[in-house]
Amino acid sequence: MGRTIAVVGASLAGWSACVTLRSGGFDGRLVLIGDEPHRPYDRPPLSKSFLAGAVGADVLPLATREQFAEVGPDWRLGRRATSLDTARLDATTVTLDDGERIEADVVLIATGTRPRTLPGQPQATGLHTLRTLDDALALKPELAEGKRLVVVGGGFIGAEVAATGRELGCEVAVVEAQPLPLADLFGERMAETVSGLHEAHGSSLYLGVAVHEVLVSGGRVRGVRLGDGRELPADVVVVGIGVTPNTEWLRGSQVALDGGVLVDAYGATSVPGVYAAGDVVRFPSGRAGAHVRIEHWTHARDHGAAVARAILGVGEPYDPLPYVWSEQYGTMLQFAGYPAADATVALVEGDLAERRFVAEYLRDGRRVAVLGMRSPRTFTRIRKELSRA
Ligand code: APR
Repeated sequence: MGRTIAVVGASLAGWSACVTLRSGGFDGRLVLIGDEPHRPYDRPPLSKSFLAGAVGADVLPLATREQFAEVGPDWRLGRRATSLDTARLDATTVTLDDGERIEADVVLIATGTRPRTLPGQPQATGLHTLRTLDDALALKPELAEGKRLVVVGGGFIGAEVAATGRELGCEVAVVEAQPLPLADLFGERMAETVSGLHEAHGSSLYLGVAVHEVLVSGGRVRGVRLGDGRELPADVVVVGIGVTPNTEWLRGSQVALDGGVLVDAYGATSVPGVYAAGDVVRFPSGRAGAHVRIEHWTHARDHGAAVARAILGVGEPYDPLPYVWSEQYGTMLQFAGYPAADATVALVEGDLAERRFVAEYLRDGRRVAVLGMRSPRTFTRIRKELSRA
């Protein structure tokens, strides 16, 4: 095992790897590089309780001060890795934006993803994407009572921000390019039940129409123009139209890229001594029958740990059942499995109309996924059974 391990990306996957490296006995130099100025923190509350003002930033860090000190990485925060030199056999060099060069025996890439933006998206006050703590801090004060909020994209981020906007008394419109948001994941009937939450809580939903242009005057957002020419006025616009893996800094290296960093079942890239973990990677999944990139919190945590074990020489192939949860309009939503739009849905318990239920997805008579709304107990039981299958 090497004496220096450099982890590039100081969020959940990178931090989880650091913790596992230390608990697995690595006592060499651990360098943790992150372009945000903050120590690793939790993102899920940023669109929910933190944005709503129900909790403060103090609940966000992924570890206590003592735990951070115990793992004891050599911090490089507020610094961006700009290139990876993989030409030498005995070491890999990470170059940072201030010119520092860090030589490491092992490099773990955990640079994650960033929000996609609309083509030609302008810079304007009141126009936001939401990924980081700083994004949330900028958006939070704008979501005041009576403000008109337009959310572009009805995926998880869009739905959560819309729900928080309503909670804070905003007038909310959600614009979704597809006929139904989340239909590729949940299938139509279930996607309808889930997206029904918007209208049930007073948000308007514009479906099957994309936002073509963000309208700006005097440097401030004033609305959006839809693909069919309609204009929606807005005081605040949040764009939540998916994410892009942060791989540009690897272009000059020999690390194979294809819709993310390509890794094997142990998180090893095409270059010896270089690993990758979290939502930046595409890994081979037997369950999915394909190489997949997963963006969920649980994956970032578990993959970071799994790849750290591989670096320590005690790895096992990684192929979990993906799991995601969301909270929208006070309703807890949980899904486990790969996209199951083509599968048959069977209600296990509860009632769709009450939005309290668990449903299974069956393919060739076999259970492949499970969706639950406000029914965590049964959901969790089935999720566990599916994970073991
Ligand atoms: N106008 C309107 N809607 C659009 C447009 C557009 N121009 N372009 C894309 N969309 C819609 C897509 O159809 C999709 O429903 O935006 C939605 C984006 O949803 P996701 O792909 O789920 O992405 P997002 O909600 O941004 O979340 C990104 O962050 O919190 C994590 O796990 C979460 O994987 C998710 C990731």
